[in-house]
Amino acid sequence: MLTSTQDLLEKAQKYSYAVGAFNLYNLEGAKAVVNAAEADSSPAIIQVLPHILKYGGSPLMALFLEAADSATVPMSVHLDHCEDSAVIEMALAAGIQSVLADGSKFSYQENLSFTREMTALAHAKGATVEAEIGRISGTEDGMTVAEKEAKMTDPGQAKEFVEKSGVDFLAVTIGNVHGQYHSEPRLDFERLAKVRQQLDIPLVLHGASGLPALMIRRSIELGVCKFNVNTEVRQKYLQFWREYGKTDSQRDLLDCQKASTDAMQEVVAQKIRLFGSAGKA
Ligand code: 13P
Repeated sequence: MLTSTQDLLEKAQKYSYAVGAFNLYNLEGAKAVVNAAEADSSPAIIQVLPHILKYGGSPLMALFLEAADSATVPMSVHLDHCEDSAVIEMALAAGIQSVLADGSKFSYQENLSFTREMTALAHAKGATVEAEIGRISGTEDGMTVAEKEAKMTDPGQAKEFVEKSGVDFLAVTIGNVHGQYHSEPRLDFERLAKVRQQLDIPLVLHGASGLPALMIRRSIELGVCKFNVNTEVRQKYLQFWREYGKTDSQRDLLDCQKASTDAMQEVVAQKIRLFGSAGKA
């Protein structure tokens, strides 16, 4: 059933687990997440990136909303990483009740005023907003330690940012990266603990693909209630089709769609169990 992200994350925060937010592209992805969440009685979040939404338009949005609503477990639909106020307005108008107003590439002040404006807009429509402070990289390559630290969330700034913007959830940058970790992931848990001391809203960690179980657990202990996952599920899907392309199989397309769904579902199920949300629906 379609539920608010706020309800999902408040419950996760109260009972010390996290909800997986999975970046999806199509029907197979939606079925993979719904099937995995239902099989494990877990809440889950369907996430969509603005360029995917642009490609799929209202049919894709309707598909995700309907997939979440017809699930037997609580699910929400969330617009991920959006820095365009027009797209946020369009998503809200279409029924998406949860957005990441991403001003992280702007200066602190510009990020604050963008987030404040988007939060007021979303709240007026009964929707909730995630913001990002610090800048999550695409890769760790080529950055010095000082450069990495400069991009991380400053706990004092985070407190001020949340107070002034009125945002509902905060994505933190503590060494997490989008995409593959090219070396052993290193998360700054001291920094996360300081952010937690300053704030009591649900925290979000992006770049959960490739994070080991111990880091996931520690992040949850320190207040992370939502993990974003894209790469691992997407790679599994692409790997399926790559392998299919190498065979001269005459398999029916529908069988392939089902098999690619199953492949993604396995990854989603692993994440759900890792995040501790199984049985929490
Ligand atoms: P990964 O691609 O590293 O899983 O990160 C996804 C993400 O954070 C989307 O916002």
